[in-house]
Amino acid sequence: MKSPFIPENAPYSDSQRAWLSGFFAGMHSHMLHSAGSVNSANARNLHILFGSQTGNSESLAHDAAARAKSHGLVPIVKGMDEIEIGQLANIEYLLIITSTYGEGAMPDNAEMLWEAASGDSAPRLEKLNYAVLALGDTSYDLFCQAGKDWDERLQALGANRLFERVDCDVDFEAPAEQWLSEVIPLMADGAETVAVVDTEAQPSKSQYNRKNPFPAKLLVNRLLTAGDSSKETRHYEISIAGSGLNYEAGDAMCVVPTNCPLLVADLVKALGCSGAEEEPVNSELMTLSEALRTHFEIKTPSKELIEEIAKRSGDQELNALLQAGDKDKLADYLWGRDTLDLLMQFPGVEFSAAEFLRLLKPLQHRAYSISSSSKQHPDAVHLTVASVRYDAHGRHHKGVCSTYLADLVDETTDVRIFFTPNNNFRVPSDDNLPMIMVGPGTGIAPFRAFLQERQARKASGKNWLFFGDRNAATDFIYRNEIEAMQSNGLLTKLDLAFSRDQAEKIYVQDRMKEHGAELFAWLEQGGYFFVCGDAYRMAKDVDQALHDVIREHGKMTLVEAVEYVNQLKKDKRYVRDVY
Ligand SMILES: Cc1cc2nc3c(=O)[nH]c(=O)nc-3n(C[C@H](O)[C@H](O)[C@H](O)COP(=O)(O)OP(=O)(O)OC[C@H]3O[C@@H](n4cnc5c(N)ncnc54)[C@H](O)[C@@H]3O)c2cc1C
Ligand SMILES: Cc1cc2nc3c(=O)[nH]c(=O)nc-3n(C[C@H](O)[C@H](O)[C@H](O)COP(=O)(O)O)c2cc1C
Repeated sequence: MKSPFIPENAPYSDSQRAWLSGFFAGMHSHMLHSAGSVNSANARNLHILFGSQTGNSESLAHDAAARAKSHGLVPIVKGMDEIEIGQLANIEYLLIITSTYGEGAMPDNAEMLWEAASGDSAPRLEKLNYAVLALGDTSYDLFCQAGKDWDERLQALGANRLFERVDCDVDFEAPAEQWLSEVIPLMADGAETVAVVDTEAQPSKSQYNRKNPFPAKLLVNRLLTAGDSSKETRHYEISIAGSGLNYEAGDAMCVVPTNCPLLVADLVKALGCSGAEEEPVNSELMTLSEALRTHFEIKTPSKELIEEIAKRSGDQELNALLQAGDKDKLADYLWGRDTLDLLMQFPGVEFSAAEFLRLLKPLQHRAYSISSSSKQHPDAVHLTVASVRYDAHGRHHKGVCSTYLADLVDETTDVRIFFTPNNNFRVPSDDNLPMIMVGPGTGIAPFRAFLQERQARKASGKNWLFFGDRNAATDFIYRNEIEAMQSNGLLTKLDLAFSRDQAEKIYVQDRMKEHGAELFAWLEQGGYFFVCGDAYRMAKDVDQALHDVIREHGKMTLVEAVEYVNQLKKDKRYVRDVY
């Protein structure tokens, strides 16, 4: 069904022509939706691939699909781990929507496709018309790098970039919406449009989401670590009763915090303001103090603020660091320094309230892996959160969200929350298959949920937990629960690694290697391998240990071990929730 067309020589004025075009477009769209049978052989497929760790790109991919349908396209949404490189060569129209993870890296589900696409044997993609939407965060040095890499690589492979890439910062909704509104009509241009009947049953949706967080009440705030531990880890229970929200073990819950009023007061003082100055924020007038408390990231300094302070102060050290472009040295300099530290370090640098606000980033939610199963706790969500507290540069510092939950929330507070699904990070659907869970520190959170889930499902599959932290006496969180799960048989195996309980440091990856033969046997039985916690060291060391175990106990070469691990990833039997 082609779009109605008004011939050039038709006797209409410009305004009549504009009105008629709009009328026909509306009528055409209505006909598309109400048409009965369709000839899908003529339809244009639009492939939409997402690379996503915490669900943002995935949810945009589904938004893109809905929009594509309304333009008569047939959308095919897939995670990047659900497609082989060879299939890309046969695709004509493609949207890539991807976030960036680690330090400029691909999200886990995009890793293997990227490896294949960036290799020498990648096929030419001359038939392909594509556009890339990149999600990221400007506070990372390699902003939207994964999206940039895809964009560059597809072009190098001969594909045709149909529309410019857009790189989205943390507030991605508006630019993503704008990009979709422009790119989808281009993808549909010249296509035979067909009515696409939506036969998928849509799950009933709660009215609460990222744009409209649910005002939840905190039910429980309990210290898990011992009072004399070097760490403070807390267990929270948050009521979602009446929200219509559902979650699954493996999902994350996001908390939208507010800043500490004491830090706000210190900042206002350092700025030489009263706090009562009224400033427009999102087209609403509010006092400087309220804006700083509720709308802006005031702990981690933005790049723009650092650069402006360097410029105005003329400080040699800071300017030299910025100009040298040595990211590691700059990161060392900034480690532990917050916005207030910088203002106090350069008292000669002055900002008006309006100037200062313009240099701040919007206050962002923080994600937490859910540590309960909705099968056991349908009306509450449990979280396991390490409070960030440290002394540096002559002051005590607190992480925004972890200490918002620990110190600022009481039973009257509305804690604004929403969920991000993690569809790959799930208890195996086959209840008989073994689960191996590596989750030191707060990495234990989703595995507490997984074990509750398996208990509720009366799943017979074996469960093995690797847990650790610094000291058993102070940091063995959920000890009673874990030991009870062991004695009632739910937890088949438990291996603990408390790094500071003996002269030499012992970590979970060491325990994996000690039990390598059995670990490999569990994998051979179809076992799933899950990792949660620190992305920067632990997850890398665990990945290395997994390769070592497979190589040694599977009697494989390095290449074979890598292939084995890749197959685990493809089968979604090696999945991670790391941060
Ligand atoms: C998918 C996902 C799941 C997560 N799950 C969990 C979870 O289950 N439990 C959990 O506790 N966290 C989890 N996190 C991390 C969580 O989102 C927050 O990043 C964490 O709570 C810190 O946030 P904050 O606002 O308290 O600290 P922020 O205000 O963001 O401050 C953190 C910053 O403080 C600085 N800093 C921290 N410690 C020190 C130090 N000792 N010395 C100097 N500087 C320091 C660093 O610059 C650090 O980046 C998860 C993250 C993701 C992405
Ligand atoms: C641990 C971690 C590392 C990240 N690394 C980067 C990065 O290097 N560059 C970047 O632009 N964004 C980075 N981000 C930001 C994400 O790309 C951004 O939050 C995105 O919206 C996530 O989308 P997703 O839910 O689809 O994965 C990182 C986020 C996290 C939690």
